[in-house]
Amino acid sequence: MKTKKNVLERAMVSVQTKVQATVPAERQVQAAHMAKKAQRLAGKGKPLVLTERPIPDAADVPLAELDVSNPFLFRQGKSRDYFKRLREEAPVHYMPDSPFGPFWSITRYEDIRAVDTNAEVFSAEPVIVMGDIPLEIAMFIAMDPPRHDTQRKAVQGVVAPKNLKEMESLIRERIVEVLDSLPTDRPFDWVDRVSIEITGRMLATLLDFPYEQRRKLTYWSDAISGTTEGTGGITHQDEFFKATAELAREFIALWHDKAARREQGETGFDLVTLMQSSDETKDMISRPLEFLGNLTLLIVGGNDTTRNSMSGGVLALHQNPDQFEKLKANPDLIPNMVSEIIRWQTPLAYMRRIATRDVHFGGQFIRKGDKIIMWYASGNRDEAQFDDPDAFRIDRANARHHMSFGFGVHRCMGNRLAEMQLRILWEELLARFDQIEVIGEPTYVQSNFVRGYGRMIVQLTPKSDG
Ligand code: HEM
Repeated sequence: MKTKKNVLERAMVSVQTKVQATVPAERQVQAAHMAKKAQRLAGKGKPLVLTERPIPDAADVPLAELDVSNPFLFRQGKSRDYFKRLREEAPVHYMPDSPFGPFWSITRYEDIRAVDTNAEVFSAEPVIVMGDIPLEIAMFIAMDPPRHDTQRKAVQGVVAPKNLKEMESLIRERIVEVLDSLPTDRPFDWVDRVSIEITGRMLATLLDFPYEQRRKLTYWSDAISGTTEGTGGITHQDEFFKATAELAREFIALWHDKAARREQGETGFDLVTLMQSSDETKDMISRPLEFLGNLTLLIVGGNDTTRNSMSGGVLALHQNPDQFEKLKANPDLIPNMVSEIIRWQTPLAYMRRIATRDVHFGGQFIRKGDKIIMWYASGNRDEAQFDDPDAFRIDRANARHHMSFGFGVHRCMGNRLAEMQLRILWEELLARFDQIEVIGEPTYVQSNFVRGYGRMIVQLTPKSDG
């Protein structure tokens, strides 16, 4: 039946679509920024300010007040005990009041899997982080089927096995370049020289972005995923908008440049070429916000995650020298170790869902519209799933069953690419170095979403020829 509301809603969508198609994405981002600033001037939507304070031990906090949204939890080494207590005493836990609003925490492996594979009852829309974000850029990670499925299908070719095979030698070449440029006579920052550098090179290749400007990709990704309101990070709203507008401008220019080069006969296996060659996506440029959303998703999805697994692996092996010895004695363990690194690190702590209806779950009553956080960081340490879960064991039999890539329709699209990069990195590291010593304590990123490192100083010992 055509209600007045339906007609109005359809008219609004039609106007929005026309606006999107005619106004450049950069301008739309700037307009949203102005609107946000105006709101702030009117005293609404004040930026969130978070101050780090020592976090009490899990055992000293009343269960009802255990707040795992605290972005300093991982940095202060408390997340392990907080999640253990929730798994044991309140596996479906309600936090009525946090800087990111009220939310449910799901902390057991099987419960997380049940939520993640039920997109009908647990919606990924409109965003997948705990708090609010300054601008909702349409990304398929935060869309439900069927819209999600069409959009994912349109771009997944970029990481399809055939494409990855073609990319493998290029990835190795780039990793080798980075490793061969490392100093062996003095300590250096592993995060900056290796993890960020390799990830940036990979993303530039995947997107055919100007190679010498690859650090811009890292900057945009960090700024977009690190807002204080969204994840408890350090990015101010103004920085977010600046980064998003820049990204929009540069990628729209890249699209046009690529189209001109293709007309001259140039071919490639990068994302923009794939989009321009597929019937479903060749006119994506006339839907600039959708184009921006897909690019942002690939940049953010492929950046922090792989980067922090590259740093996390070095730290895990440093803390477990017996495992490094085991690896050197048996390099065939590399693929299994890559899974164990991704489990142990859990680069993204969670994904968020919204209940689409009232539902009984795990003995609790969750109301329609409630926010639900699936804590992968906890599921990956669930004793019921993993034997001695806090231990790092490169030959763990079920390491591949980790939940760091999620489950269900949103299961990570780049998982094979991430694993391939990490596998090649460790093959090439083993060929060159006998030891990678972490000096002092690394610094940790402020976030309740990204579990990562700011700096990690290391000293390399080259392999002795004998
Ligand atoms: C160790 C590295 C990585 C981890 C831990 C990781 C983690 C995740 C997680 C947890 C999800 C959501 C799963 C869910 O909701 O069930 C996801 C989705 C996604 N990831 Fe990754 N990711 C990694 C690497 C990458 C890379 C390298 C790329 C791209 C080049 C990428 C692209 C994506 C995309 C496009 C999605 C959305 C999939 C969808 O909604 O259908 N990821 N990833």
